[in-house]
Amino acid sequence: MAKAKTVFVCQQCGSQQARWAGRCPDCQEWNSLAEERVVPAPVREQPAFAAGEATPITEVESVDAPRVLTGIQEFDRILGGGAVLGSAVLIGGDPGIGKSTLLLQAADRVAAAGLKVLYVAAEESLLQTKIRAERLGIATPQLLLLSETSVEAILQQIERVRPQMVVVDSIQMVFMPELPSAPGSVGQVRESATRLVYHAKKHGHVLYLVGHVTKGGALAGPRTLEHMVDTVLYFEGDRHHAFRLLRAVKNRFGPTNEVGVFQMTRDGLAEVANPSELFLSDRRRVTTGAAVTPCMEGTRALLVEVQALLVTARYGSPERKVSGVDYARVCMLLAVLERRAGIQLAGQDVFVNVVGGVRVDEPAADLPIAVAIASSFQNFPVARDAVVVGEVGLGGEVRGVSQLEPRLRECAKLGFRHAYIPAHSGPAPDVPADLKLHPVGTLAETLDLLR
Ligand code: TYD
Ligand code: MG
Repeated sequence: MAKAKTVFVCQQCGSQQARWAGRCPDCQEWNSLAEERVVPAPVREQPAFAAGEATPITEVESVDAPRVLTGIQEFDRILGGGAVLGSAVLIGGDPGIGKSTLLLQAADRVAAAGLKVLYVAAEESLLQTKIRAERLGIATPQLLLLSETSVEAILQQIERVRPQMVVVDSIQMVFMPELPSAPGSVGQVRESATRLVYHAKKHGHVLYLVGHVTKGGALAGPRTLEHMVDTVLYFEGDRHHAFRLLRAVKNRFGPTNEVGVFQMTRDGLAEVANPSELFLSDRRRVTTGAAVTPCMEGTRALLVEVQALLVTARYGSPERKVSGVDYARVCMLLAVLERRAGIQLAGQDVFVNVVGGVRVDEPAADLPIAVAIASSFQNFPVARDAVVVGEVGLGGEVRGVSQLEPRLRECAKLGFRHAYIPAHSGPAPDVPADLKLHPVGTLAETLDLLR
């Protein structure tokens, strides 16, 4: 057996150093090097790609890779039309966000379609997984459960069962006893993932790995995990709200920046066919201090409602509280409202909120935020069937936004009739005639039109 040696592995980026240092020379993270003992593997398995002659690109045959559809449309869409056989998909997310629920539901659908699925519950007992499955109404004999943490044992089961889809929940919990480092350490996670991914490529099954995220929001364990797999998905959402967003941040076989919307219900995750409806509050009454705006999530437009409430500050300096929007941006808009639209807001407590707990980080939300604030302060309602979109500059000018057309199409689809859009936004967008466009050049002009 080869001699074990001591190395220092960065817990952030996974690089190996011969000597300890306070800061990782590769990723510059402080205090991230941990001592690990590694035994060089005696025989390295060959990479899954056949060595061969260099081929002119024009002579390489292109075949559509066969895919496994989960039948959960939002999930399949994010993957680019199902997961490619032989590919590995990493799903990250906060604890309790619903990763296990989503994958168990997907596993059940695939099994119900007649394929063999192996679900490895490395974090939970069979009974716990069974209880969740019962809650989800799952009873498909093609879905096989395995409660196991040893990579070797998992691979043996895969060899025996020959599934088309394997779920390992989670990658941080599986380990290889022959490695000297502790389970959950970077070395273990990287080696375990390498073995599982290699096996998936060799045997041609789809591999889903569940990964935990750190406090900072990155996938725990080495960054190299993200390079090893073909697709990286993040499952996110506010725990106090029912909706969840599934986002592709890397995809070798499909689009990135796509977002799927789900809702956590009493019996599992449900797809949200029309997310804009979810994010628009109960809009039967016309109220002041609210503006609807189309924001972009990936290539998809979502309509959200921005609300503002202004009250006379009672004690000392006025309060500014925001949720779902950028605090600094709101402060800037308050200044612009004061100087460029002549609205004196000193002495007002300002509260800004996006309905449904969504975050809207685009500059395109400037105009609706400013409009909602002015609407609350001056007590004029924005028409129920109107939307507002545009970036606001320090001069009070309304600037163009990207992807205006898909945004406006979504507005038209949901029955909105008036859209206040930046005057300088290139060629007129092609939208249904029943959505009337009102191009605006400045914030002051927008407020004049709306009042
Ligand atoms: P889970 O899938 O265990 O999250 P993760 O694997 O990401 O840690 O989901 C946990 C939460 O979802 C838990 O708080 C309970 C809730 N839940 C429902 O609301 N409905 C359901 O049908 C299920 C199975 C879970
Ligand atoms: Mg889980």
